[in-house]
Amino acid sequence: MSQHNWPQWLPLRSDLRNLSPYGAPQIPSLAQLNTNENPYPPSAKLVSAISKRVDEVAGTLNRYPDRDVVELRRELATFLNNRSGTTLSYENIWVANGSNEVIQSLFLAFGGEGALGFTPSYSMHPLIAQVTRTSWTNGERNSDFSLDVALATAQVRQIKPKLIFVTTPNNPTGTSVSLSDVEDLAKVSAEVGGLLVVDEAYAEFSIEPSAITLLGTTMPNLVVVRTMSKAFAFAGARVGYLAANKEVISALQLVRLPYHLGAVTQAIALVALEHQGELLAKVETLVADRDRLALQLQQLGATVIPSSANFLLFTVPSSQQIWQSLLDQGVLVRDVGLSGYLRVTIGSAAENQRFVQALANSLCKPSGGKI
Ligand SMILES: Cc1ncc(COP(=O)(O)O)c(C=O)c1O
Repeated sequence: MSQHNWPQWLPLRSDLRNLSPYGAPQIPSLAQLNTNENPYPPSAKLVSAISKRVDEVAGTLNRYPDRDVVELRRELATFLNNRSGTTLSYENIWVANGSNEVIQSLFLAFGGEGALGFTPSYSMHPLIAQVTRTSWTNGERNSDFSLDVALATAQVRQIKPKLIFVTTPNNPTGTSVSLSDVEDLAKVSAEVGGLLVVDEAYAEFSIEPSAITLLGTTMPNLVVVRTMSKAFAFAGARVGYLAANKEVISALQLVRLPYHLGAVTQAIALVALEHQGELLAKVETLVADRDRLALQLQQLGATVIPSSANFLLFTVPSSQQIWQSLLDQGVLVRDVGLSGYLRVTIGSAAENQRFVQALANSLCKPSGGKI
């Protein structure tokens, strides 16, 4: 429930009155491990390449940017084609200020008649549904958080949503869905006249092939959402994108705001793509550190959900008490609202070490208790 006491005169929509603004706490801390960012900042070389490009763009800021973002969409298509062996063109790509905006555009264009996702998953999906007045159904997962495709299929057939969300690797659990399961879900989504939206915000950390590889097959109703915020280490720039059939992109253009992506954002996203080798170089380190951290958590007695992403969901005796105790020691993790669990982002080696030490201390405290 919202704490906000809205004044009488404010004509705020009644369905928004009890909402609170979404967002993880932004609390200064020694180890900030709560929003699944990449802990490695850009190198001095990249910083200077970005500054140089911003300098060039600065002289043109009296003009609106390219409304259709063609050059960036073209480079994103090339990036995906090189990684996934696809033949996408810029007409298969849409890009906006973070994948949250991309997802909001999907709701604006295709929502309305209902959407389905499988809980627990990324909590912005139902929230954007609500804000865009799309009815949302929380579908179910297995108790180990894996996706039961037979059950998911039955739910799609029963609810007949226009948007079906599958997040893989899933946030907050880290679990992934196989490509063949994605394919089955795309088929059943087509059967009910819906789009299957595969949110792949963490795809680069996973060994599972991307659903991008299914585009261009017989599945025009498949949409794959990606971001530069996670593996790409570019969260501050706010660049998210999707790949889909050309008709999906044309429909999204009906709901986008004119000049939605600023000239500076477009320019620096292009610089980031030019330096993709450097930006993605830390993915392997993060994956190795994730697996090491999972073992350390197990040694402390926690159950750790197998993760294909850059974070781990693990059991604790009390989510709230351990969260606070970690914060008191300068370590910020995420209480995702799952009782008995916390989620930690993989940080630098030093941050991970600090987290393990702080957790060991927290569990030793009388209030910490046994896992
Ligand atoms: C599954 C998932 N999708 C989308 C996003 C949104 O990312 P951004 O808007 O930074 O691209 C996030 C961010 O945490 C996420 O976890």
